[in-house]
Amino acid sequence: MIDPELAFLNHGSFGAVPRVVVEEQNQWRRQIETDPIQTLHRRGPQLIAEAKGAIGAWLEMNPADFGLVTNATEGINCVLRSLKFSAGDELLTTGHVYNAVRQAMTFVAHRAGATYREIEIPPPIASPDAIANAVLSAIGRRTRLVVIDHISSATALILPVERIVEECAKMGVDVLIDGAHAPGMVELNVSKISAAYYAGNLHKWGCAPKGSAFLWVRRDRQAEIHPLIVSHHYGQGMEKEFSWQGTRDISAWLAVPRAIEWMGRIGWARVMAHNHAMAAWVNQMLCRRWNVSAISPADGSMLGSMAAVPLPPPLDRLTPQQSEELQVTLHDRWKIEVPIMVWGGRSYARVCCQIYNVAEDYVRLAETIERLARQA
Ligand SMILES: Cc1ncc(COP(=O)(O)O)c(C=O)c1O
Repeated sequence: MIDPELAFLNHGSFGAVPRVVVEEQNQWRRQIETDPIQTLHRRGPQLIAEAKGAIGAWLEMNPADFGLVTNATEGINCVLRSLKFSAGDELLTTGHVYNAVRQAMTFVAHRAGATYREIEIPPPIASPDAIANAVLSAIGRRTRLVVIDHISSATALILPVERIVEECAKMGVDVLIDGAHAPGMVELNVSKISAAYYAGNLHKWGCAPKGSAFLWVRRDRQAEIHPLIVSHHYGQGMEKEFSWQGTRDISAWLAVPRAIEWMGRIGWARVMAHNHAMAAWVNQMLCRRWNVSAISPADGSMLGSMAAVPLPPPLDRLTPQQSEELQVTLHDRWKIEVPIMVWGGRSYARVCCQIYNVAEDYVRLAETIERLARQA
């Protein structure tokens, strides 16, 4: 449904939803409004269980081990705000953390008199091991929780979550993975990673309706974790607690299986391989045209279906306000939707690649940035 005039290069923020999935959600909305008590109250738990069955089969999660939430931010908040931190504890993450997660971590740390710390891992990043080593060597005696992105937001890198989880387990430190971008971007087996906590979005690369996400919790940690909304089923286990959080529109959740099935018919492996190849190409093409250095290996091995490319001078050190203005200009004047991120004092275009994008979208971005850089 994206405006065909628009070069839409920001699937990673709020992506396109296939028409059939929008129709599926509308059909659920109609059904709820036609027979509300029957659909929400009597059938609701079973309908949610069916949706979870499809999601669990897709991402290798037992339905008893995860709950549906509205977005990854909510899933992460469920964990952070359920855990009891004490004065002197440390909550650790990297400078690549998503800002909303930074704020949630800061909030719970301050509330408990605990410390919040970010490990700086500046680009260029030579390898996944460079990230894993930086994280693992920063863990100290007081580190209670490590929060790590599966795919980072501003820098668009795949982080070595498997190795970090494995090594942290040896040190007795729990890991919360922010998998906001992972489902549908990379092959994902949530149970196998076996972090203490994994929050993921279905409404980004899963192409499900907005408001669909999940929180998976390892069995030995489930008793401690509750939804943000404590309701009727408090104390009855994760599955029940998450399935009723007060009256709400569950149509987005119920439409997720349609997205999984429809994209699955195109072929998830094909979609991921296509998007990754495009991201690796775009990364190289933009770096070459703008005469800038890639922030990760040139072969694209740390990329999924996004790439953060440094902007050429004089656009390379924009203030957050200037970056917002540039983003608006690109949209309004040039019909290009792309996030301009300011990270570590540098500005980047974070381009996303989804199956509706074509090479000309990125060439248009390249030319427009070149023109604006000349005029600046
Ligand atoms: C790494 C990361 N974490 C969390 C989020 C938050 O996702 P949501 O707004 O769906 O909660 C995003 C959104 O872009 C993200 O990139």
